[in-house]
Amino acid sequence: MVHLRRLLSYLRPYSRRVALAVLLSFLVAALTSLSLSALIPILDTLFEEGGLEALQSAVSEYVSVLSPGLAAAIVDGFLESRMSALVSMIALVFLMTVLKGILRFLNQYLVGTVALAGARDLQNELFGSLLRQPVLFFEREGVGDVASRFTADGDSVVRALKTFTGTVFREPLQFFFLLALALWISPILTLAALVIFPVVGVLIRKAGKVAKRNAKQVLGHRSSLLSILQETFFGIRVVQSYGSEERAAARFREENHRLFDRGRRLVRVEALTSPAMEILVVLGVGSALLLGGAMAIRGELSPSRLVTLYIAVGALYEPVRKLASAIPRIQGGMAGAHRIFAYLDREPEVRDAPDAIALPAFEREVEFRGVRVRYGEREEALAGIDLVIPANSFVSLVGPSGSGKSTLAGLLPRFFDPDEGVVSLDGRDLRTATLASLRGQIALVPQEVILMNESIRANVAFARPDASEEDVCEAARLAHVMEFAERLPEGLDTVVGERGSALSGGQRQRIAIARALLSKPRLLILDEATSSVDDESARLIGEALFETREGRTTIAITHRLDALKHSDLVVLLMAGRVVAVGQHADLLADNATYRDHLRAASGQESAS
Ligand SMILES: Nc1ncnc2c1ncn2[C@@H]1O[C@H](COP(=O)(O)OP(=O)(O)O)[C@@H](O)[C@H]1O
Ligand SMILES: [Mg+2]
Repeated sequence: MVHLRRLLSYLRPYSRRVALAVLLSFLVAALTSLSLSALIPILDTLFEEGGLEALQSAVSEYVSVLSPGLAAAIVDGFLESRMSALVSMIALVFLMTVLKGILRFLNQYLVGTVALAGARDLQNELFGSLLRQPVLFFEREGVGDVASRFTADGDSVVRALKTFTGTVFREPLQFFFLLALALWISPILTLAALVIFPVVGVLIRKAGKVAKRNAKQVLGHRSSLLSILQETFFGIRVVQSYGSEERAAARFREENHRLFDRGRRLVRVEALTSPAMEILVVLGVGSALLLGGAMAIRGELSPSRLVTLYIAVGALYEPVRKLASAIPRIQGGMAGAHRIFAYLDREPEVRDAPDAIALPAFEREVEFRGVRVRYGEREEALAGIDLVIPANSFVSLVGPSGSGKSTLAGLLPRFFDPDEGVVSLDGRDLRTATLASLRGQIALVPQEVILMNESIRANVAFARPDASEEDVCEAARLAHVMEFAERLPEGLDTVVGERGSALSGGQRQRIAIARALLSKPRLLILDEATSSVDDESARLIGEALFETREGRTTIAITHRLDALKHSDLVVLLMAGRVVAVGQHADLLADNATYRDHLRAASGQESAS
């Protein structure tokens, strides 16, 4: 219920359109009953002795209230013979039906657009809030799961909102107008037709419960399927090269079967409710017909009224059936909304403190003091780091794979905060600064570069879309992007393909470096940023970075000997601890651990 109210709050901006839709529903329902009630005079005129005269006097009586002249004109012009009365009344019913059709169209159009608009707003909000989630959130949840909030869950929300603004108003109104007509004809017969209603109610409730349970499961399985799709197709090279297609297919089949199983239960409930309802309807309407027939035989009820009543109580079940089928749709939408709200309500773990201040340009040092980081239940990735990095220095961070280098780097732009200890810039704890002012000074080139499916130029200018042509070219030149871009048919305007798939890993890395340089960071972090670049280019890029280091602090996670040699400081990390700090030459001379590490590293990954 809480979720329902919250979901409906997305319709608030469109409340006037919703109100108009409800008004239209009202008119449609009224017109339906009115055109149905026209059956009584039609049948009377045809089959009753004195039916035409009764109609004429009724029209004179009611219309004379407005204008006696008009009443006479209607009677003389349209009702003077049985045939002309028949034609006139059928034409009237036809006109009412056309009018009803137009109103119904407007109603459905309003309802549909309002639902789409509400769902659109919700998804915009969701996207915005996901952008602020910490990096680890996406690794944990899986991109497929996140994406399904916008596909399956989004669709179910649209359906629920449509049902809510449409069916939920339209059908009860329809019900009450038909009920009013039936009661007007004969209260007793109407009651007889409705004795069966409580049973119908129980049936609907039961079906709704089963539908709710299964709808939630269906959405869960659908999002797992989407995750499997993502993992498999993004990793298709791995899947194929290890010949694990069959395993992937089996995994997909298994999950798909679970989805099928839940879907089957939903189908079964839906398939069962309609026939069950129909049988109950025949029971109710049949008993009314039986009683009414007996009254007609005794002359207590005219045939025209009996027929109209029969149609009205028969039609009475239609809105009930539609409302019943609306329940699973609303339940499904609530399940989707629940999943979306769960994401919306996630407080980003990393966010601005209420009293956060804008960090001034960093100019003295970066300091890690007693920093510990642990991922879940695992062993600590960083187990007490104490380290000072002077501003404007060029620092190399080395260490075996898994020693915590990337984790250390991720602390600076606050992809996550340390579990213990403090990371500070110029003595100011990063957690007291605004994210915008912190990240505005930092550029991080990650190990895995993902590009946007746009031109190379747009990817380089990602952080500064307004950068001048010279600045973009200069950054592209320094990162040796120009070198390969010039050979492409459209140069810098070449589109890089989805996730940069049209480029090699090394080319993507160079674009990422150009992007970082263009943003003119005070602190540049390179996480094995040239690991896929060929040796010669990597050396040249390294030199370019070194030559332009003026006014910038560089932390490079690297194993390149040339980089180590001209670094102001080399930091060796092992198992989450700093085990050596100093200049390359000194460490090489005095530190056995450092020598061992370099020997081991050059043995296995001399190219990176
Ligand atoms: N997202 C993560 N979830 C769980 N464990 C992680 C995650 N990222 C890194 N780790 C673990 O933390 C440790 C340090 O990883 P990392 O900082 O990436 O090392 P490096 O960059 O030096 O190779 C490793 O044991 C790694 O398995
Ligand atoms: Mg790493």
